[in-house]
Amino acid sequence: FPNRAPSIRSTSQYRAAWCCGSSSGRWFCFEIIYTFALAVRETAAAPPENDQPEIRETMPPHGTENKNRQKPATQHKPCTTMSTDSKTRVVTTYRLAEMKARGEKISMLTAYDYSMARIIDAAGIDVILVGDSAANVMAGYETTVPMSLEYMIYHARSVTRAVKRALVVVDMPFGTYQGNSKEALASAIRIMKESEADAIKLEGGEEILESVQRILTAGIPVMGHLGLTPQSIHKYGTYSVRAKEKEEADKLVRDAHLLEEVGCFGVVLEKIPAELGKRVSSELTIPTIGIGAGNGTDGQVLVIHDMLGINNEFSPRFLRRYADLYTTITQGVSQYIEDVKSGDFPNEKEQY
Ligand code: KIV
Repeated sequence: FPNRAPSIRSTSQYRAAWCCGSSSGRWFCFEIIYTFALAVRETAAAPPENDQPEIRETMPPHGTENKNRQKPATQHKPCTTMSTDSKTRVVTTYRLAEMKARGEKISMLTAYDYSMARIIDAAGIDVILVGDSAANVMAGYETTVPMSLEYMIYHARSVTRAVKRALVVVDMPFGTYQGNSKEALASAIRIMKESEADAIKLEGGEEILESVQRILTAGIPVMGHLGLTPQSIHKYGTYSVRAKEKEEADKLVRDAHLLEEVGCFGVVLEKIPAELGKRVSSELTIPTIGIGAGNGTDGQVLVIHDMLGINNEFSPRFLRRYADLYTTITQGVSQYIEDVKSGDFPNEKEQY
């Protein structure tokens, strides 16, 4: 008997004991109990209705639920089935390809912790990037170079616990994928298994192609990152605009095509001339997400601390501030200090 029918087992035993008292009914009772037991076992083996895997098409992106959707020309196959306990989120890499195909812009922001991820996911952001910019805005480092795999997994795990809708992409930190594709695969697998994210992102083109390819063989979706690549800051020595010269621009276009050809689902273009951003976006079939790459890309990404004005010392030309949380927080905290010092807080209604 399966475990889910323990009470039937004991009832059968009870009935058998009762029948054994009458010799004439012994064989008859045994047959009835045996038939009944077989019927119970069959019923228990078939899962009840709400245990059946739910088969449904993945949901459309925020705000587009009722529009006719067109299948884009892309190598990414749709995921059409989803079990009830699946971690598959609503926005998939396939969904991003669809968005590009129908000209719908993709919104992407960074997040590094549970509370912020919960807010921006509920607000309807399409993609959440657990960026290695956590090194700057969360840990206070000058560059992203010191960021470790363990810390990226910690941040990513905090974010994925909150996110129900957005696609979660995690940056592979410096030193975990360059020059050794086996180590790159091992690092990517750790990120995916331990954080339950949806995809990873790496900086670079041709130089890291072997790592990209090996990671893709494991079925891990990969996003590229070209233009300004902050992990290479010590090579270039500056965070200024990239690919202004023809030679560097041509290499960037070549790298973008290579990333698409090997199977990346998208590419971030950071701090490059708007014309180049537009050109790459029109040549690729996979989505491009720009940061300081003009309006011609398929989507935009910003660091959440910058766009909400938490970080008020960083004002590059490409940044638009949507809030001034530095001032809001400073005012709130100053008022709290004043209230505590004056004895105004807590009052009678704020105590037990
Ligand atoms: O780490 C990060 O936040 C990034 C974005 C700036 C694209 O890579």
